[in-house]
Amino acid sequence: MLKTFALLLFAAIACAEFAVLERDNPPNGFSRIGPSPPETILDLRLALTQNNISGLQDTVYDVSTPGNARYGKHLSKEEVEAFVTPSEDTTNQVNAWLKSHNLSSSPLTTAGDWIAVSMTVSQANALLNAEFSAFQNADTNQTVHRTLSYSIPTMLKASINTIYPTVTFPVTRPSFTRKKILTPSETNTSTPSVAPDCPGNWTPTCLQELYGIPSTPATPAANTFGVCGFENQFVDVQDLNAFLKMFRPDMNPNTAFSLISVDNGINNQLPAGVGISASINIQTAVGLATDVPVVFISTGTGLTGSVDFFTALLDEANYLVSLAQPPETVVQTYSDSENDLTPQLAESICNSYAQLAARGVSYIVNAGDDGAANLGGGAECFPWVAPFPASCPFVTVVGSTEFTANDATESAASFAGTEFVSGGGFSDIFKRPRYQDTVVPAYLNTIGATSSSPFNISGRAVPDISAMGAGSPIVLQGVVDTFWEGSIFAATIFASMISLLNNERIAAGKPGLGFLNPLIYQNPTAFTDISTGSNPGCSPDNAFNGTVGWDPVTGFGSPIYSKLLEISNKL
Ligand SMILES: *[C@@H]1O[C@H](CO)[C@@H](O)[C@H](O)[C@H]1NC(C)=O
Ligand SMILES: *[C@@H]1O[C@H](CO)[C@@H](O)[C@H](O)[C@H]1NC(C)=O
Ligand SMILES: *[C@@H]1O[C@H](CO)[C@@H](O)[C@H](O)[C@H]1NC(C)=O
Ligand SMILES: *[C@@H]1O[C@H](CO)[C@@H](O)[C@H](O)[C@H]1NC(C)=O
Ligand SMILES: *[C@@H]1O[C@H](CO)[C@@H](O)[C@H](O)[C@H]1NC(C)=O
Ligand SMILES: *[C@@H]1O[C@H](CO)[C@@H](O)[C@H](O)[C@H]1NC(C)=O
Repeated sequence: MLKTFALLLFAAIACAEFAVLERDNPPNGFSRIGPSPPETILDLRLALTQNNISGLQDTVYDVSTPGNARYGKHLSKEEVEAFVTPSEDTTNQVNAWLKSHNLSSSPLTTAGDWIAVSMTVSQANALLNAEFSAFQNADTNQTVHRTLSYSIPTMLKASINTIYPTVTFPVTRPSFTRKKILTPSETNTSTPSVAPDCPGNWTPTCLQELYGIPSTPATPAANTFGVCGFENQFVDVQDLNAFLKMFRPDMNPNTAFSLISVDNGINNQLPAGVGISASINIQTAVGLATDVPVVFISTGTGLTGSVDFFTALLDEANYLVSLAQPPETVVQTYSDSENDLTPQLAESICNSYAQLAARGVSYIVNAGDDGAANLGGGAECFPWVAPFPASCPFVTVVGSTEFTANDATESAASFAGTEFVSGGGFSDIFKRPRYQDTVVPAYLNTIGATSSSPFNISGRAVPDISAMGAGSPIVLQGVVDTFWEGSIFAATIFASMISLLNNERIAAGKPGLGFLNPLIYQNPTAFTDISTGSNPGCSPDNAFNGTVGWDPVTGFGSPIYSKLLEISNKL
C-alpha cells in the first residue's frame, strides 16, 4: 500500500538514537521555494502521551453501550482529565528536552496533554533535526513553512505522540468548501419551488414527512445543539429569518442561535463573509430542531491566519472538552482525506473526540463527498481510504442518500452529473471498533473481500448511517437557492433529529444519548435499509455498492424518528 508517511528508527552518527517521521514529497500543488528564513517564528503544538487513553476508551464503551451497568453515567471534565493528563515522567522528560534547547512550553489544554512551543526556524531545525523550508501552493500562492522529516530522541518517543505542523501540509482541496453543483436546467434560483414535489427540493416540511421528525416545539431544557463552522464562515441572521418565514411558517421567524468563538472565529454579519456551509448548517439545524437552543461554534483562522483545518478541528474539539457542560449534540461537516494527515495526528485529534464521547456528547460528522477512494492531496487511486475525522471510531458518521423523482425509495447518493459522490469506506489508520465486529465482517463476506482488496479490511468502516443529501433549499443573501447537495445536509439532518431526542431526555431529567454508535449497532431496525446505489471513486467500478444490511455507502440506512424515540424512551 502506498504510504505517504513513514516512521523510521535509526542510529544517528552521534550515539543517541532518534525516531524519525518523514514523507517523500510535499503534497501535490506544493513546491519548495527555498529554506525558511532562520528567524521565522514557528508555533508548534506537541501532543504528549496521555496516561491512560485505553482506559478512557473502555470507559466510553461502558457509558455508551445500552445494557451496560454504567450506561448513561457520563464523566465529568475532571474525571476525563484523570485519564488524559500525561504522567509526571512524560512531562518532565519533555520539559527537560525543551529546556536543553532554551525553549519552554505553555499548556493548550487543562490536562496538559497538548502543549504549545514557540521557536524560530533555526531553533526548530536544531531541536528536531529538521530542514524547515518555504513551500508555495500553486493555486493559492500561500506559502507555508514545513519540513519533510523530523526526528526526536528515541527516549522521548513514548512521551510525544505528535509534533504539529511539521510534515503535515494545509488542506487546499476544493471539496473543503462546499461548491454549488448544478446542471444548467437546475440553475433557476429566482423562484422558490417549494413542495409538492419534495425530491430535489427537500424543505424542512418534506424532511419531517420523510423521517417522521416532529414539528412540535422542543420542551425548554438545559440542552444545546452545537453546529460547527470553520474558516470564519457564518450565517446571516436575516437569511435565517427569511428561511424560517418561508419554510417554517409555524415557527417564530426570529428564532436565534447563540455563538461560541474559537481561534477568533467571527460572526460579524458583513455580507462578504456569509458562508454557504454555515448557512446550510444553521438553517437546516434551526429549521428542523424546532426550538432546541442552537449554538454556532465558529472556529476561525487565528489572529495571524495560521490556524489551518486540522488545527481548527483540534482547537474546536479541545475547546468543547474544556467546557463544564459541552453541548449534548454537535454536528461538524468539514472533512478531508485520511491521506492528508499523519496517523499520529489523526489519533491525537480522535483522542479529543473520545473525551467528548466520555462526557456524553453525541458528535456527528459527515462522510464527505469524495466517493469510495476519498482521495486527498492528489494521491493515487489506491488504496481507497476513509475520510477524516469520520474514520475516528468515536464519532457518528452520516453518508448521503438521494431520491430522484422517479425513485420509490432512497438510494445511495452518486449525485449524478456532479463532482460529488457520497463518501464511505475503510480507514487505514483506525482499526475496526468493537461495535462493528459483527456487521462489517458480514459485509466483507458478502462481497468476498480479502486482504488484497483495494481497501484495508481491518479498518474502521464508515458511514454508520445515512440521510438525505440531495437538493435542499437555503436562503443566501435574501435569495432562495436550491440544489445544494452533499453529506453536509445529511449529517445536519440526522444531528437535528438526535438533538430533539437529547432535548426530550434532558427535559425528563435523563442523561443525553451521548456517543451513539453502540446504540445504533444494537438497533439496525431504527433505520430504513438502503440497498441500491453506489459511491464510484476513480472509475465506475471503483465503488462500494449498497447492499442489504450495513454497507460502507449508506451504513444501516436512513433514520426513522419514531423508532429512535421508542428506543430512547426505554433507556
Ligand atoms: C486505566 O483505566 C482503566 C479503566 O478505568 C483502569 O481499569 C486501569 O487501571 C487504568 N490503568 C492505569 C495504568 O491507570
Ligand atoms: C542556551 O542559552 C545559553 C545562555 O544564553 C547558551 O549558552 C546556550 O548555548 C544556549 N543553548 C542552546 C541549545 O541554544
Ligand atoms: C499567484 O501569483 C501569480 C504570479 O504572481 C499570479 O499571476 C496569480 O494571480 C496569483 N494567484 C493567486 C490566487 O493569488
Ligand atoms: C425560472 O422559473 C420561472 C418560474 O418557473 C420561469 O418563469 C423562468 O422562465 C425560469 N427561468 C429560467 C432561466 O429557466
Ligand atoms: C490496516 O489498518 C490497520 C489498522 O486498522 C493497520 O494497523 C495496518 O497497518 C493497515 N494495513 C495495511 C496493509 O496498511
Ligand atoms: C460494486 O459493483 C461494481 C459493478 O458491479 C463492481 O465492479 C465492484 O467490484 C463492486 N464493489 C465492491 C467493493 O464490491
